[in-house]
Amino acid sequence: MTFDPRQIECVTTDFLVLGSGIGGLFTALKASDYGLVTVLTKQKIEDTNTYFAQGGIAVALDEQDSPKLHREDTLQAGAGLCDEQVVDILVNEGPARVGELLRMGARFDRDKGNILFTREAAHSRSRVIHASDATGSEIQNTLIRQCGQSREVKVVENCFVLDLLTNPEGRCIGALTLDRAGRMAAYLSRVTVLATGGAGQLFLYTTNPPIATGDGMAAAYRAGAQLMDLEFIQFHPTALAIQGAPRHLISEAVRGEGGVLVDQDGKRFMDKYDPAGELAPRDIVARAIWTELGRGNQVYLDVSHLGTERVRNRFPNITRRCLDYGVDPTTTPIPVAPAAHYTMSGVRTGSHGQTNIPGLYACGEVACNGVHGANRLASNSLLDGLVFGDRIVRYCLAEWITSPFWARRHLVEAVLEGAREDWETEDSLVSWGPDGERPIFYSWEPFAIDQQLEGIETEEMRQLLQSTMWEEVGLVRGLQGLLHSRELFQAAVGSLAGRVTSPAEAEVFNMAQLDRLIAGAALIRTESRGAHYRSDFPRADNQNWERHLVWARRKKLKNPAG
Ligand code: SIN
Repeated sequence: MTFDPRQIECVTTDFLVLGSGIGGLFTALKASDYGLVTVLTKQKIEDTNTYFAQGGIAVALDEQDSPKLHREDTLQAGAGLCDEQVVDILVNEGPARVGELLRMGARFDRDKGNILFTREAAHSRSRVIHASDATGSEIQNTLIRQCGQSREVKVVENCFVLDLLTNPEGRCIGALTLDRAGRMAAYLSRVTVLATGGAGQLFLYTTNPPIATGDGMAAAYRAGAQLMDLEFIQFHPTALAIQGAPRHLISEAVRGEGGVLVDQDGKRFMDKYDPAGELAPRDIVARAIWTELGRGNQVYLDVSHLGTERVRNRFPNITRRCLDYGVDPTTTPIPVAPAAHYTMSGVRTGSHGQTNIPGLYACGEVACNGVHGANRLASNSLLDGLVFGDRIVRYCLAEWITSPFWARRHLVEAVLEGAREDWETEDSLVSWGPDGERPIFYSWEPFAIDQQLEGIETEEMRQLLQSTMWEEVGLVRGLQGLLHSRELFQAAVGSLAGRVTSPAEAEVFNMAQLDRLIAGAALIRTESRGAHYRSDFPRADNQNWERHLVWARRKKLKNPAG
């Protein structure tokens, strides 16, 4: 978009937090002890992935449990790609952060005053605390209440972040935004925290709400941030599968409480795929269902044997949702299918949420700190948002104190720098493992695509991107589909660039940019691991691939003569 930086509204703040889910609001509350915090959110404050979380928070609070056991389960699920140090931080600092959430007033289910723990897949203990099947909304509402009581936290709704602003020294100084009326503004901040959530909407079928289009990841990439583990997208095994209905999440806790997967004849099938049956790791259950559906079977989640009262009391929202679509789960098995659910991938950070761009931090689903590896353990994500949001604030204080307030002239410099800077067409790519970083040289096979993209309307393009991601970069990926999709996404980026004038167009451009990188990453990782499954490389290749892929845009070397 073209605009005059001398004319647009300029707002200054100490901390700028982008996103209003658990990571964003918890960070905002923590930062509010030290300065003025502005939270920008794309729609309403509660329009977040957090709000829709059902299962709960995995945390070692029960006396039968320990951080050590939680650590082991997390590493096991992560399939060799977790950063063990970061996992230690998660499981050890988690209980204290959940304690803070309790003191803020979050109400979790209890029996005679004692917190109740449920089981989810790949956990060796019942360790998931919950608020019936609406844990996310309980947490979201608690944090919203707290922010409402703080004089230091200002929340701006319906504010779309177009881009991050970086000054000529490469430091992040805030963000450029667009509101629904088409007005642009610049928020200039001493510290910027990305907490914009995930990207489930890249896929045709997802449990995520419409806001989850990966905007924060795409904006960070454009600003020069490193993105990591892009090929690892988690598909939830059980989303409601009724023609015309959105793929609502049917929590894994339903299987944890005894729900079973059956085919159209009422026969269980999971023991064919894994000895842990319905409680096998999420990627295994999702692919098993995918395989059954591919064989022409129907798949259902059956809870009718648990008893009417128990189902209604423990899962009131899921029950209501199913009834809305004519299925009474107390008597009838629920039709289910997998759907995109969580991005393990994101902006690469250290253990304090720091990115490679000074002044820019990230936490929650938009971030990739190595805690989830190739496959996130169920209900670890809310804990991730709390623990690493808190760590950002503790770490950035020294930087915050010495960082200047930015003024309009700095905005003008940043915008001029952005316009001046040109980028190579290829990305830089390294793989990162126990022996450090190694560059990867890649060349794409040319692949002819037959779609004509010029002139496609924004919404049509969104659907084309989503269905291509689902079919060719989904649960099961193959060489031809990846080559085709990557070429298509590359062409889509080219066709969309330069025609962004509204939040909807910006979203679709962000989606195309991420799609292209995800398809590229899935193409390069010639093995199967965790949530990434290649039909042409169905096994893990530890020797070559116990490593991460890290992407960034490559800046052209400046001409020293001018
Ligand atoms: C669920 O309730 O099944 C989702 C929990 C999660 O994604 O961690």
